[in-house]
Amino acid sequence: GALAADHPLMDGRTADSPLITAYRGGKPSRRPVWFMRQAGRSLPEYLKVREGIAMLDSCLRPELASEITLQPVRRHDVDAGIFFSDIVIPLKLAGVGVDIVPGVGPVLDKPVRTAADVAALPQLTWEALEPIREAVRLTVAELGKTPLIGFAGAPFTLAAYMVEGKPSRDHLGPRTMMHADAETWTALANWAADASGMFLQAQLEAGASAAQLFDSWAGSLGLADYTKYVAPASARALDHVRHLGAPLIHFGTGTSELLVAMRDVGVDVVGVDYRLPLDEANRRLGGTVPLQGNIDPALLEAPWDILEAHVREVIAAGSAAPGHVLNLGHGVPPGTDPDVLTRVVELIHSISPA
Ligand code: CP3
Repeated sequence: GALAADHPLMDGRTADSPLITAYRGGKPSRRPVWFMRQAGRSLPEYLKVREGIAMLDSCLRPELASEITLQPVRRHDVDAGIFFSDIVIPLKLAGVGVDIVPGVGPVLDKPVRTAADVAALPQLTWEALEPIREAVRLTVAELGKTPLIGFAGAPFTLAAYMVEGKPSRDHLGPRTMMHADAETWTALANWAADASGMFLQAQLEAGASAAQLFDSWAGSLGLADYTKYVAPASARALDHVRHLGAPLIHFGTGTSELLVAMRDVGVDVVGVDYRLPLDEANRRLGGTVPLQGNIDPALLEAPWDILEAHVREVIAAGSAAPGHVLNLGHGVPPGTDPDVLTRVVELIHSISPA
């Protein structure tokens, strides 16, 4: 089915917001900005409500997940909320043994390495996603005209954690598997695609106005492997939600050589990390899609005049594209001074859109 008539994108709340307008290639009333990882450890109010509650448990308590999503919107006046959850939540809700170890990241009880391991994976059900839908409903009721962005991990990034069983730098496990045992790889990538796709669908149908697919670790792949072994699974994840008509964003890090292939998975907007200037990203994409990015998170700790000059450069480079939503080139570092983020938002909003 389509989005309900009382969905924020359908009932007049968010369709004309600066964020959705820019994602659709229109002229926004102000320059839209949000930050990946805007919710989280940079905010004292986050540390306070999370006290004594494990990361993944906090994602599954709807009131708490909603409150954490709203915190950075209240504080920074950003143009979107990003749903507070994690890319491994669909695994957890399917019944896969997974936890987030503080300072480490996602760790599985048992890595998924063989055809038998993949065949034994439990299936995610629509009912299991109810805490996600409830958290989204609570959040959009508070957000009013500010859109909520939903998200999911892309199949490769999910599989990278599943095969290694923990974070890794080179992702050798999944990269070996796609060549050495392509059949098992395809089965795993399809399992991850359907889990991601259902997670996206739950968020969008419950009230999110856009959704971002995070393929954070796709940059460890060459273009040939990405195109053959990964892009079809990412397209399959998005196949769960294309019919809903909400803008879809695709982001990864170290993906300068993959931007065209990532667009061709079938998305409306491409997110660019801090390594590639937006004018060059736009040239590589042939001016076909709005871009999102790409303030270097490292500069958030630089003196203000240096950070301001950098933000102005990012805006100038982004003006070449058919639309631009400001963001960081990756997530907010945990040690970031939140007042700096508020000031960056004020600066961006003070510069009139083209
Ligand atoms: O504002 C937001 O962006 C909040 C929602 C969000 C989280 N994780 C919350 C979180 C989102 C969009 C994610 C996505 C996510 N999770 C990605 C893709 C984005 C990216 O950063 O590339 C990835 C790769 C993960 C996996 C993951 N989860 C990692 C690597 C970590 C860090 C581990 C650590 O402690 O250093 C997490 C944990 C996590 N996810 C935290 C938050 C706020 C920190 C945990 C905490 O505060 O206790």
